[in-house]
Amino acid sequence: MRNARFVLGCLAAAAVMVPALAAAEAPENPTFHKDIEPILQRSCQVCHRPNNMAPMSLMTYQETRPWARSIRAKVEAREMPPWHIDPKVGVQSFKDDKSLSDDEILTVSNWVQNGAPRGNPEDAPAAVEFQEFGAWTIEPDVIVTSPPHTVPSEAGDWWGDYIVPSGIPEDRYIKAIQTRAGDLRVVHHALTYAVTDPDALLNDSSEDAFLNEYAVGKNADVYPDGTGRLFPGDARVRFSFHYHSVGEEVTDQTDLGFVLYPEDYEPEHILYSRQLGQAGELDIPAGQVTRHDGYQKMYLPGKLTGFQPHMHFLGTRQCLELIYPNGSTEMVSCANFDFNWHIVYNYEDDAQPVYPAGTTLHVISYHDNTQANRGNHDPKNWTGGGSRTVDEMAFAWISWHDLSEEEYAAELEARNADND
Ligand code: HEC
Repeated sequence: MRNARFVLGCLAAAAVMVPALAAAEAPENPTFHKDIEPILQRSCQVCHRPNNMAPMSLMTYQETRPWARSIRAKVEAREMPPWHIDPKVGVQSFKDDKSLSDDEILTVSNWVQNGAPRGNPEDAPAAVEFQEFGAWTIEPDVIVTSPPHTVPSEAGDWWGDYIVPSGIPEDRYIKAIQTRAGDLRVVHHALTYAVTDPDALLNDSSEDAFLNEYAVGKNADVYPDGTGRLFPGDARVRFSFHYHSVGEEVTDQTDLGFVLYPEDYEPEHILYSRQLGQAGELDIPAGQVTRHDGYQKMYLPGKLTGFQPHMHFLGTRQCLELIYPNGSTEMVSCANFDFNWHIVYNYEDDAQPVYPAGTTLHVISYHDNTQANRGNHDPKNWTGGGSRTVDEMAFAWISWHDLSEEEYAAELEARNADND
C-alpha cells in the first residue's frame, strides 16, 4: 500500500483526495546501483529478464544503460510499468501494484539526465530471486488446458479466444485459481471466463463470468476464507489471449488450475464478476473523441473487489463512479486504457468500496477516433459497437460480493470509526 487509506460509503461520501506525493524525497544525483536498481527489481524485472515477455532484460547495468532514454520516456509517461490507474482520482490501494511513485519517476528522470551513472557496485541491493518460470503456487484439483496455438516467428499480434470444456460436471465453488502460461515470451495476456452462452465465441456475452487474469509475475488468486466464485456445471472455459511473436516459432498451451471447495459447500460470500455498465449504442464519429455512459443498479448492498476497463483499440480512458440512492456521487477509479494491456485492478481488502442497496454503478468510457490516437488503425471512418476487435466496446468487468444489511451497517461503522 502506497497511500492514505481511502474510505467509501454512503455516509462517508466526502471524497478523500490522496495528497500529491512530495517530490522532495528524490535524490538529486541518483546512481544505478543505489537508486535505480531497487526500482527495477520491484517494478520491472518480473517481465524484463531473459526469456520473458518484455523485449529486453533490465537485470544488470550493462543491459539497462543502452535503454536509459527510452526508460525515462516510458516511465514519465506512466506507460511502464503497465499500470494505468489515475493516481489522482479515487481509491489508491491495490493488490499487486508495481507502479512508481512520483519520487521514483523523478529519480529515474534525474538519473538519465545526469548521464545514467553506474555508481558504486557495493551499493547494489541483493539480487531478487524470481519465482521459477511456470510453477504452480496452488495444488489444483482440476486443470483446463487451451488448445495448441502456434505463434509464427514474425507476425502481427494476435488477439483471440478459445473455448474448451471444463471437466467440472456440476456447480462448484472455486477457492483458488491460477493461470500458468505455456511460454512466457509469447503470452502477453490471457484472461479466462466461465461461459454458459452456447454462441460465446460470437458474443462477448454479459452472462460470462470472469475467472482469472494472467500477466507475467502474477501468482494464484486465493479468495479469502468463506468467499468463493461459482463455476456453473454447464459452463465451459473461455481463454482470451493476446499472443506476441518473438522471432522464433513457438507453440503455446496455457493451463488454468482450479482449487475447489468440497462438493456441498456454499461460501458465505459468493464473488461475482460480470460485464457491467455497458453503454447503449456506441457512436464514435471519425476524427472525434467521444464519451459514453453506462449504468447498473445494484439492488443489494455490496463490496467492490475489482475493476477492469474493457474497450477496444479506440478506448483511451474509463472511470467508475458510484451514484448513491440519495443522489450523491463518488468517483471510485479512473484508468487510462491501452488495448495491449488488460489489467485487473484489485482493491486492497481494507480499501474495497462498500455501497448501500440501490446504488448505481456508473461506467464512463472515452474513445479517441482521431489520428492522434496511436492505437487507431482507421481514423477516417465512423466506428460503432460490435464484437470484432475493430469494433468498439464500452463496459467494465466488475468484481463484487453482496452484503446483508447488517454486514453493510457493520462495515460502514467500522470504516467511519477508522476514519475518525
Ligand atoms: C508486466 C510486464 C512488464 C513490466 C512490469 C514492465 N515492462 Fe517494460 N515492457 C514490457 C513489454 C511486453 C514491452 C514491449 C511492448 C510494449 O511496449 O507494450 C515493454 C516495453 C518497455 C520499453 C520500450 C522498449 C522498446 O522496445 O522501445 C521500455 C523502455 C520499458 N518497457 C521499460 C520498463 C521499465 C523501466 C519498467 C519498470 C519501471 C517496466 N518496463 C516494467 C513488459 C513490462
